[in-house]
Amino acid sequence: MPLPEAIRANAPGFVRNSVRLRAAALWGGLIPPRAMHSDAEAALLAEMSRASRSVVEIGVYEGSSAVVLCGAMRKDAALHLVDPFTEGGSALRPGQRAVPAATRRAVERSRTGAGPELCWHLEFSQELARSWSEVVDLIFIDGDHSEAGCREDWELWNGFVGEEGTVVFHDARSGHEGGVGLPGPTAVVDSLFRGSEPLPGWRIVAECDSAVAVARR
Ligand SMILES: C[S@@+](CC[C@H](N)C(=O)[O-])C[C@H]1O[C@@H](n2cnc3c(N)ncnc32)[C@H](O)[C@@H]1O
Repeated sequence: MPLPEAIRANAPGFVRNSVRLRAAALWGGLIPPRAMHSDAEAALLAEMSRASRSVVEIGVYEGSSAVVLCGAMRKDAALHLVDPFTEGGSALRPGQRAVPAATRRAVERSRTGAGPELCWHLEFSQELARSWSEVVDLIFIDGDHSEAGCREDWELWNGFVGEEGTVVFHDARSGHEGGVGLPGPTAVVDSLFRGSEPLPGWRIVAECDSAVAVARR
């Protein structure tokens, strides 16, 4: 049973942000994974993943979006969760990181019934991409938020997306109407899919808050 929200909200900052205390509480089910997306983004991820047989999430942290994906995906599908669980990658505060055992337990606890199958990859997405060979229906890019890191994820992974497949970028709508985000992912999405010469073969199919979904034409 998670602690009531009123108690969690009143915990001092050093408790709320301690890597070890958070991991212990997450592992024990006293707190949910820290929410890293809006309700509208969660709905978008759920919609995009519902029919997918294979999903890759790049950047898992405490598992809040993995829980959304687990709840939406088919039970016979596979969800690949990729995160080295080290510091860095431009999206988190210095010192902020998750502990894989706690994230794993929180995501597994959230699953009702048998599926989807969870495949954990405790490594950098760029390393994994170099040995990857499977077709993927949905890739959620939410790992290294530097422009170079996000662009590398796009370049290394987009070739694995199937004919009907989708890529969702998080934190990629800074400065756009009704949008929020970070400079790195926003620059990557703007340069690839907006403007006078968008990348042939892809188009933006949905966007909300900080999320942008692109699909093959
Ligand atoms: C913003 S958090 C992810 C949030 C998560 N998707 C959610 O909604 O709860 C970013 C995560 O990306 C991870 N990360 C950073 N660089 C990465 C990379 N190159 N490959 C995979 N994960 C990476 C970090 O360790 C961190 O846990």
